[in-house]
Amino acid sequence: DTQGKTITCQAAIAWGKNSISIEEVQVEPPKTGEVRIKLISSGICGTDDHVLKGELPMKFPLVPGHEGAGIVESIGNGVSSVKPGDKVLTLIIPQCGECSFCLHPKGNFCDKQDVLPCSGLMLDGTSRFSCKGEKIYHSFRVSTFTEYTVVPEIAVAKIDAASPMDKVCLISCGVPTGYGAAVRSAKVTPGSTCVVYGLGGVGSAIVMGCKASGASRIIGVDINEEKFPRARALGVTDCLNPRALQKPVQEVVMEMTGIGVDFAFEAIGHIETMVSAWNSCNNSYGVCVIIGVASPDSKLCLEAIKIITGKTLKGVCLGDYKTRDCIPQIVSDYLQNKINIDPLVTHQLPFKQLHKALELYHAGKTIRCVLLF
Ligand code: APR
Ligand code: ZN
Ligand code: ZN
Repeated sequence: DTQGKTITCQAAIAWGKNSISIEEVQVEPPKTGEVRIKLISSGICGTDDHVLKGELPMKFPLVPGHEGAGIVESIGNGVSSVKPGDKVLTLIIPQCGECSFCLHPKGNFCDKQDVLPCSGLMLDGTSRFSCKGEKIYHSFRVSTFTEYTVVPEIAVAKIDAASPMDKVCLISCGVPTGYGAAVRSAKVTPGSTCVVYGLGGVGSAIVMGCKASGASRIIGVDINEEKFPRARALGVTDCLNPRALQKPVQEVVMEMTGIGVDFAFEAIGHIETMVSAWNSCNNSYGVCVIIGVASPDSKLCLEAIKIITGKTLKGVCLGDYKTRDCIPQIVSDYLQNKINIDPLVTHQLPFKQLHKALELYHAGKTIRCVLLF
């Protein structure tokens, strides 16, 4: 029985930029309002790549990962919504239910999130991880590249006991992030034209959302043509590789559609592609949704005059879902075959092979590689 005791287990530690190794760590028991989870699976998301490359202002050393599925091992005082043995997903955006944002019907960016800014610490300002006596930071309070993690109760979604744990980790982040960007944030309409910049895990889920909304044309943009066959299978009608074009990609999108698309999405995290997405939308009622995470010190530079045409620029995080309320429902929808995430799981590897998984990711071979614990 491990309840109330420190657990020694294996976890990945990012020591700094591009420096990651699997180490023996100590994971303290959960404090009041916290849950300790035994991870079963974790996806490798584009945001983790930003973290590992040092593109976000995070404190090192840290335990990376946020797209996790696991089983509750023990709970701290006051925890009432989950119990040991429950299947759960970790939530990079919590839902405290009490802050101004949680109380408002719109939006999901709970005040208790640790993304903007990131402290790397639990809500009480301390860490639950240590390695050889040294304090190790959390990432977004939901570190998942570890056999055990501690997460605030408000960042845990209890899911159906029948959930296939080797896949549903994608519903912790990538699937709702992309799908919700299309169906909730952009509100893609039947017969509309769409362009999706970036055909990774998130971009693929955006394509699924556009398709489910009845878009008639979905243009996919990626510099890696290996992503095109899978994107076509999900609903992309036209594929563009900006590096193989004679002119800027937004000009090609403009020619293909006459006036520009109804809905444009950026799922890469580069300011150049954000500007391309904006300039791919039609003047008047075009909607550009930014999902990619840019480094906090970068600035978007747009022609200000264009905003008076009526076109919309917006951003969205985790698909605009109030996370604890909505994410378990997406898992149920998957179990009832209303949404199919299986095509996004292209690889599965044991956690011990993290380096191989990262190599496959960097080589552009994966949509999602799921780590199995
Ligand atoms: N132009 C077009 N495509 C690009 C470019 C570029 N300049 N640079 C990279 N890409 C493509 C990659 O080839 C890859 O297919 O963007 C895709 C990114 O996909 P992933 O690495 O799988 O990342 P994903 O998990 O989809 O996240 C994408 O969304 O949530 C955010 O932080 C996340 O910024 C990240 C973005
Ligand atoms: Zn809140
Ligand atoms: Zn993510």
